[in-house]
Amino acid sequence: QYAFTQSDLSPVQLDQITAAAQILRTGGIVAFPTETVYGLGADVTNPVAIEKIYKIKQRPIDHPLIVHIGNISHLHYWAQAISDSAWKLANHFWPGPLTLILPRSNRIPDSVTGGQGTVGIRFPAHPVALALLRALGPEKALAAPSANRFGRISPTLAAHVHQELGSTVDMILDGGACNVGLESTIVSFHDEIPQILRPGSITLLELEAALNNSVILAHHINNQSIRTSGSLPAHYAPMTPLRVYSNTQIWQQAFILAEKNLRVMVITWSNTNKPEFSNQFIEQFSMPEDPVAYGRQLYAKLRQFDQAEFDYMLIESPPDHPNWLAIADRLQRASYHSPDNN
Ligand code: TXA
Ligand code: MG
Repeated sequence: QYAFTQSDLSPVQLDQITAAAQILRTGGIVAFPTETVYGLGADVTNPVAIEKIYKIKQRPIDHPLIVHIGNISHLHYWAQAISDSAWKLANHFWPGPLTLILPRSNRIPDSVTGGQGTVGIRFPAHPVALALLRALGPEKALAAPSANRFGRISPTLAAHVHQELGSTVDMILDGGACNVGLESTIVSFHDEIPQILRPGSITLLELEAALNNSVILAHHINNQSIRTSGSLPAHYAPMTPLRVYSNTQIWQQAFILAEKNLRVMVITWSNTNKPEFSNQFIEQFSMPEDPVAYGRQLYAKLRQFDQAEFDYMLIESPPDHPNWLAIADRLQRASYHSPDNN
């Protein structure tokens, strides 16, 4: 799924990557594609560049950044006291959409981790990201949060980065649409049993199978002990109020709003209970029934509908199944500020 070769890149892309590496070396900021979402990259060893990232994102300075590496052998350069479980997951899932939270080495500046003793590390599986890391050279890595303003929807296309951050970044590398579409699964090894701090496309069951041991899902909403921005109850949010309803309630709610002349976007996946008649205030969109395809499209669709000036977006609650956990998590946070949510 994540296989690639250097030859997948065109000569133009390779030239742009060389230019991007030069910008990063001199303390600039480059947005780049990964298989999950677009990242906003800076040289991890340059505190001035790191500061720029927080400023561009308008992100509180105590929310740590993920460090992206281009080779598994670099892991112990940036982290230390790496447990057997952590190595197992790294060997099994990297390159791929998995971030490991580990004790940091002294090469990681304080500003990258928000002063915490741990660092999040990820070896991404995208030809452009990997070529960029290779061009940067040894003893370098990319500190990169998702390339959106704090609390907003992560970008899955270069155009999204352009719309949201435009001229505030020095360069945007275009690698097309992100294949996964949701941010990486984050696993912490702070306790004996590994914990998922943020669910992603690599599922709990896949992690357990790779470890041949149990993994738990951290119930991090309202838990302020570990500062992950993705763990704030409100995050990944569109501007349009978004509410999540079961399939049995969603149409009823849509008609209540339409009666008040409010424009409603109804986003479903199951396509049951769809009313026979139409309403001028209500539009409907069917998402894929498969969680992988759904995850790939979710953010782009939320952005698209956000720009269409609906008064509300109503989303059908996802199936109560482990493979839908990452989607359920993002929808819950995206809907947090909308009143009457259930
Ligand atoms: O898929 C991804 O992970 C994307 C791409 C660009 O790699 N990156 C991403 O970064 O989602 P960001 O900054 O938007 O989210 C990173 C999450 C945040 O919730 C952050 O707080 C958490 O990782 N994090 C980073 N370092 C951490 C640490 N030392 N301890 C706990 N959480 C950490
Ligand atoms: Mg983010």
